Amino acid sequence: MIELKKDLYWVGIKDWELKKFHGDEFSTPSGSSYNSYLVKGREKTVLVDTCWGPFKEEFIHHLETHLGLDKIDALICQHSESDHSGAMTFLLERRPDLPVYCTAKGKQMLMAQYHKEWNFVTVKTGDTLDLGGYMLQFVEAPMLHWPDTMFTYIQGMAVLLPNDAFGQHYAFGPMFADEADPCLLWKEAITYYANIVAPYAKMVRAKIDQLKKMNLPIEMICPSHGLIWRDDPMQIVEKYYEWAGPYKENQVAILYDTMWHETKAMAEALARGITRTGMVAKVINAAKNDETFMLTEAFRSAGILVGSPTINNGISHAMAALMEGLKHLKLQGKKGAAFGSCGWSGEAPALLQKHLEEANVEIAGGPFKAIHMPYEDQIAELENFGEAFAKGLISAE
Ligand code: FEO
Repeated sequence: MIELKKDLYWVGIKDWELKKFHGDEFSTPSGSSYNSYLVKGREKTVLVDTCWGPFKEEFIHHLETHLGLDKIDALICQHSESDHSGAMTFLLERRPDLPVYCTAKGKQMLMAQYHKEWNFVTVKTGDTLDLGGYMLQFVEAPMLHWPDTMFTYIQGMAVLLPNDAFGQHYAFGPMFADEADPCLLWKEAITYYANIVAPYAKMVRAKIDQLKKMNLPIEMICPSHGLIWRDDPMQIVEKYYEWAGPYKENQVAILYDTMWHETKAMAEALARGITRTGMVAKVINAAKNDETFMLTEAFRSAGILVGSPTINNGISHAMAALMEGLKHLKLQGKKGAAFGSCGWSGEAPALLQKHLEEANVEIAGGPFKAIHMPYEDQIAELENFGEAFAKGLISAE
C-alpha cells in the first residue's frame, strides 16, 4: 500500500512486462499499471477498481496482508473492462456480501462478462456514498471510453478518480507524474489518448465542460493507468480538451508501403517538398513500424499522405490494417492525399483515397500514380505537390 495523501492509498499492480494491450491491438513499450485505490473514511473503507485477472492473486494477497479483506466495506467498479475488473470474481468469492457500486450499464456489462449476481448497487451522476469525513460523488462518463464508465470524486479530499481518462500506459517506480521523465510521460499520454480516447472526443469535451461547471476543487487526479497528476493536476485536463479538438502539430505523416522501392521513391519525393517549407515530414513504412506509433503520428499531424503499391488490384496488407485503424480515430481537421506505384492496373491510390475520405480526412490533391519507378518529371511533380500541400497546411493554421 502506498499512501498518496492522508487516507488515500494506491493498492494497484505495476505491469512492467506488458508490451501489448487490448489483446495485441495496442503496443505498450513502457508497460502499464492497473491502478486500484483504497479510500479510508472514519466509518467506511472502500476499494476503487481492481486489476487484470493474471494479477488477481498478487492483488488480493497484498490487500489481505496489509489491510484484511474484512476491512473493506464496498467495492467501487468504475469501469467493467477486464483490466480493472479481472480480480473481482476472486475478491467476491471471499467477500460475497461486499456491495459493488457501479452504473446500471456497468452492472449489465459485469454480468455479461462474469455471469455472477453480485451485491450490486447501481449509481448515477449525483449519487453519493458517505465514508465518514469523506463523501464519494459519482459522475457517469459514458463512452470515456465504454458506456459503463463513471468517475468518482472524493469530497473532503479534493481528489478525482477518472478511471481510464487522463491515464498513460507507463509503468514507473514513483507514483506521480511530476517525478517522471516528461518526454516519456507526454509521449505515453498522447499515445494513450490517440489510440483509446480520441474516437470519443465529443464526449471528452462535454465531460470536461461538465466538470468545470461543477466547480470541484481538484488537488489530485488518479487515473486507472500510469502516473498520478499531483503538480498542477488540471494540466492533463486542459491537454485532453486541446487533443479533443482539431488537434495538429507542425508535421505531415507520410505512411506508405513499398515492394520494390517505387512507392518509397514517391514518399521521399513528397517529403522533400514538404521540408522545403520548414514543416516536418515523417516518412514511415507501415510494414516496418508499429501501428500504435503510426496512429499516434497520424493523430499529431496536420497532414496525412498515404501510399501503397497496387497488389492484386488492391493495397498492401500493412496499409489495409493501418487504414482501418485510422478510421477508428475519428480524425478532425486533417488534410491528405494518396499515392502509389503499380505495374499495370494501379487501383491502390484511388482505393487509399477512399479510405482517407472514410477516415474523415479532407482530400487536398491526387491521387498520384506511377507506373513502376516514377520518372524525373513525376518526382518533380510530387516534390512540388508536397511543398504546396505543406504551404496549404501552414496557411490554414
Ligand atoms: Fe483500462 Fe477501458 O480499461
